[in-house]
Amino acid sequence: MRGYLDGMLLASLSLLEGVEAERLEPIASNMHLRHADPGEVMGREGDAGETFGLVLEGVVEITRQSASGPSHLGFASKGAILGELAVLRRQPRMATLTAITPSLLAVGDSAVLAALLDIPEVHDRLQRVASTRLARDARPVTVSLRDGSMVLVRPLLEEDRREYELELNRLSRESRRRRFFSAGDLTPAMVDYLIQIDYVDHFAWVVLDRENPRRGLATARYVRQEHGQEAEIAFSTVDRHQGRGIATLLLAAIGVAAAEAGITKLIGNVLDENAPMRAVFAKVEHTTRYGEPGILVYEIAPLDAATLIEEETRAELAAAVHDVVTAASLALAVSHTHEQDLPTDDFTAPGSS
Ligand SMILES: CC(C)(COP(=O)(O)OP(=O)(O)OC[C@H]1O[C@@H](n2cnc3c(N)ncnc32)[C@H](O)[C@@H]1OP(=O)(O)O)[C@@H](O)C(=O)NCCC(=O)NCCS
Repeated sequence: MRGYLDGMLLASLSLLEGVEAERLEPIASNMHLRHADPGEVMGREGDAGETFGLVLEGVVEITRQSASGPSHLGFASKGAILGELAVLRRQPRMATLTAITPSLLAVGDSAVLAALLDIPEVHDRLQRVASTRLARDARPVTVSLRDGSMVLVRPLLEEDRREYELELNRLSRESRRRRFFSAGDLTPAMVDYLIQIDYVDHFAWVVLDRENPRRGLATARYVRQEHGQEAEIAFSTVDRHQGRGIATLLLAAIGVAAAEAGITKLIGNVLDENAPMRAVFAKVEHTTRYGEPGILVYEIAPLDAATLIEEETRAELAAAVHDVVTAASLALAVSHTHEQDLPTDDFTAPGSS
């Protein structure tokens, strides 16, 4: 196994792809190599998260303690970053890392992470990695519908793909036409687009039946326009569950997430004959204008949308989603608290990753 680390090696990792090796040289010289044998624990859930690691070789398993023992979260191989959330959030590690094969990691501390975040393309990639991981971690919020039944609201995850596809297929042709402005089947590429979201520019909530949390009842999303403060919104509730107030709840939830993300305007494009969607938007302050023929464009302020639900639910949703949609500000927080330059001489970062 390799015994040295340089900018060239770091530049070969997908996370750092496109960054000049020269730029990575001082970063490489402030990281150290950590070898692990199969079965060796490289970082333990609950430990102080002072360092992060980039996987250079091998496979590392990520697990988390649950009531029924360790639960498998995934495997990390070459190019993956591990432990960065604990460093970013200055919180204990959220998972245990165990080498499955002989593994090699480049390990750095928060100053090294801050230096990486100063590289714009790395900043964007890291922001997306962090947001996606935080979305998986977000606690579902329980909300009572007006008929007294309970639903769960949480970010839509890639793991929901199967159920989400079923949900899309359960939409009637009419609902599909109203949602996608075409009643045709959705292509796999379209489903990819709808499910592989980054939570930074594209965020989606899913509503689940609390009694059967595998069953999706509805989704709502916003897609930020060119990294700006405006975002387009879209909703769909499976036909059997329409009229129960779910899209109303989701409009509020989208307002909460968008406000946390710094978005100031939500834009809804609606077929003008789509009475249920118009009825939902009409519940909050809005402006309308015609876009293309037959399409009404609603503009709504996120904070106005959020008022559709009680303050307590609003606060719970905001808490669940704040870290997910603001991974950027977490990253900035690190950059700004480590304004000193990286030391130029080698040092040994403390502990394992
Ligand atoms: C639009 C849609 C998301 C609404 O979802 P929902 O969960 O049924 O929404 P809600 O139950 O919160 O509210 C629907 C409102 O429309 C009202 N409504 C239903 N049919 C109506 C009609 N024909 N005329 C006027 N209002 C109508 C309901 O009474 C309800 O209002 P209320 O809460 O004051 O009773 C759902 O119908 C859907 O998925 N449609 C297909 C996809 C779509 O059109 N997406 C919008 C594109 S952005």
